[in-house]
Amino acid sequence: MTTMENEARLILDLTEGFIKSQILFTSLKLGIFDLLDTSAGPMTASRISEAIRTDTDATKRLLDACAGLGLLQKVNVDKETGDGEYQLTRASRAFLTSSSPTNLGGYVKVFSSFYKFPWADLRKAVKEGPAFVTRQNQDNTSDIFKIFFSNQILMDAMTGLPTVFGAKTASAFDLSEFRRMCDIGGCTGPLAYHLAAAYPKAAVSVFDLSEVVKVAEDRRPVGEHGQRVSFIPGDFFRDPLPPADLYVVCRTLHDFTEDKVLTLLTKMHDSLPLGGGVLIAEYMLDDDKTGPEVAHKYDLHMFLTGGDRERSGQEYKRLLTMVGFTEVTVRSSSYPLGHVLARKAPKYSARL
Ligand SMILES: C[S@@+](CC[C@H](N)C(=O)[O-])C[C@H]1O[C@@H](n2cnc3c(N)ncnc32)[C@H](O)[C@@H]1O
Repeated sequence: MTTMENEARLILDLTEGFIKSQILFTSLKLGIFDLLDTSAGPMTASRISEAIRTDTDATKRLLDACAGLGLLQKVNVDKETGDGEYQLTRASRAFLTSSSPTNLGGYVKVFSSFYKFPWADLRKAVKEGPAFVTRQNQDNTSDIFKIFFSNQILMDAMTGLPTVFGAKTASAFDLSEFRRMCDIGGCTGPLAYHLAAAYPKAAVSVFDLSEVVKVAEDRRPVGEHGQRVSFIPGDFFRDPLPPADLYVVCRTLHDFTEDKVLTLLTKMHDSLPLGGGVLIAEYMLDDDKTGPEVAHKYDLHMFLTGGDRERSGQEYKRLLTMVGFTEVTVRSSSYPLGHVLARKAPKYSARL
């Protein structure tokens, strides 16, 4: 392709990007992935459309589009007609079926239902700025933001991501010296369980609102590492933080303005012993804020949905340093989250 054709393709791919989302959203809502998960083998389009009560030709075209996108695999294909049978791919089996422990289907559904409203209004939001979010919070469609974490379906949808990627956060740094880790705003514990599995000598606690903590027990995984995670109810702005030598805070600081982030980081600093640490895991912008794509998406998502913003590694470093943390190390390049580890100065430097 010539340079010009490539540039045209960039624009066309962006223009048509929502079509890919619609193919995924629709296939999931129609129950295609769960149907194939429970079927004895690959299924034809007519058997699938009969089971989900849809038009056969339209269903065949949707299934073929899924095969083109890697969501389904087409097998036993008749070379003349192009007809065949459909089965799950490794990705759709792992992430789009209700039976999978790593199911991201809830997360997909939240984007295809609740979040389509604020995103449809991006133009208005950019024109109006924070007034848009304030107005959203006053009308009914945005009740979802108020009920988000008291609604278990939404809560489970959100925990899908740390269930899948939490091992990366646990191994972003060697945390083996820390013996009492506390995941601040750790929800029902998906990241805490990864920390407990990665660090067998550590006791891991989760500090979150009482409405969240009260449903956490139902989601405890089997295994010794599951038993090493405890849940402590409380409000991290109002109550004392549980004692720990490492505070972990994942996808939570982006919900808050700089003042509140400083309040929370100060509280962590005050509660830690000398030499203790804080590990931040967030969608992290490059220092020049030209990437990565995932951080830009969530930066705008935070703006639209009443959170605050994504920040760069340097911005987190500045905030941590302001409240007294030292030895700040930024590792921002992993997908989807970047990581920052900082310490409360150890004894010898405190005496200097
Ligand atoms: C965006 S979620 C992130 C959850 C989890 N860390 C993750 O990465 O999936 C923010 C979490 O902070 C909790 N939270 C919000 N405000 C809180 C507060 N004032 N005190 C304690 N937890 C709070 C919420 O209940 C929720 O579990």
